[in-house]
Amino acid sequence: MRVLGIETSCDDTAIGIVSSANKKIAIEASVTASQVLTHRKYGGVVPEIAAREHALTILPTIAAAMKSAKVGWKDIDALAVTGGPGLNTALLVGVETARTISYTLNKPVVRVNHIEGHVVSSWASPNVGTIRFPAVALIVSGGHTELILVKDFGKYTLLGRTVDDAVGEAFDKVAKILGLQYPGGPEIARRAMLGNPNAFLFPRAFMKQGSLDFSYSGLKTSVLYALQKQRNVTPTLVNDMAASFQVAAIAPLIAKTRWAAEKVGAKTILLGGGVAANAMLREKLQNMVTTELPETRFVPPVLSLCMDNGIMIAIAGTFRAQKKDFTPWKKLSADPGWELVDR
Ligand code: KG4
Ligand code: ZN
Repeated sequence: MRVLGIETSCDDTAIGIVSSANKKIAIEASVTASQVLTHRKYGGVVPEIAAREHALTILPTIAAAMKSAKVGWKDIDALAVTGGPGLNTALLVGVETARTISYTLNKPVVRVNHIEGHVVSSWASPNVGTIRFPAVALIVSGGHTELILVKDFGKYTLLGRTVDDAVGEAFDKVAKILGLQYPGGPEIARRAMLGNPNAFLFPRAFMKQGSLDFSYSGLKTSVLYALQKQRNVTPTLVNDMAASFQVAAIAPLIAKTRWAAEKVGAKTILLGGGVAANAMLREKLQNMVTTELPETRFVPPVLSLCMDNGIMIAIAGTFRAQKKDFTPWKKLSADPGWELVDR
């Protein structure tokens, strides 16, 4: 079965094509039209501009992915499209495109939850083998910071989430405070490598004992206050602040992933979302699992599948298509606040 995945929930128009046979999934094409340069001048994503860009680029992006995979419409068995969560008008462009193709070319459509896409992004990593359940998934992006119990594909329980800002949002906001360009995550990570992580002691928000929730707005404010106290903002100071912020932002992610894994007896730890590209987060999670949870396997996604992409939507779509979990074109809709629950 070959599935074409459409992702337009935020600022990337992303198309992925995957084919599956005998439980093996092969990536055939992944094309993303990034809007980073468009939104950079505003310091963040502007929803109306994102939607307009999606509308302009979605058909050429689909065509480019099909050309790259050397396939035509007759070779595509099903579509998968992100139904939410995300920016409403941005989601609508993908949903309406899927609806039109479904109606005109008679293709079944799977409506995919964006978070489920991030959860399965590790499935396509090389030599991943069988994922053993229960798993705990840490999903960290510009819009999400969530710990999810994955009982099986499609069976989820939310264990904890941020009560205010998402961790990627904190990276982006702190980058802005430090005068670094959008998106802030990669910039902070780069500057942090040059800085001293012990230069500033920023708060690690562990919340109450044993809580699996997160909070990032206090950390962001602490960085702002610390910067305002400085007379002379040198590149070295920015490096030190970036490094000190990064360790404070990552510490609760490591500790709470461990608590969650111990609580549910996780056999696997999955990671997903744009912040999953962060080298320190990946390294610290791997070290924690090796030393504290030796029976558990850490399965991070390959770097190319951390940020929003069409492949993760196509993979989740493939699993759902195998169960005939299709949505008729007349009933396709966008749901900006769609919670990930069992279905
Ligand atoms: O998953 P994603 O592409 O979009 C959302 O669904 O939000 O994640 C984008 C987020 C941004 O906040 C960006 O700053 C962050 O991921 N990010 C990083 C890194 N690369 C991207 N954060 C920390 N370190 C990185 N290396
Ligand atoms: Zn995302």
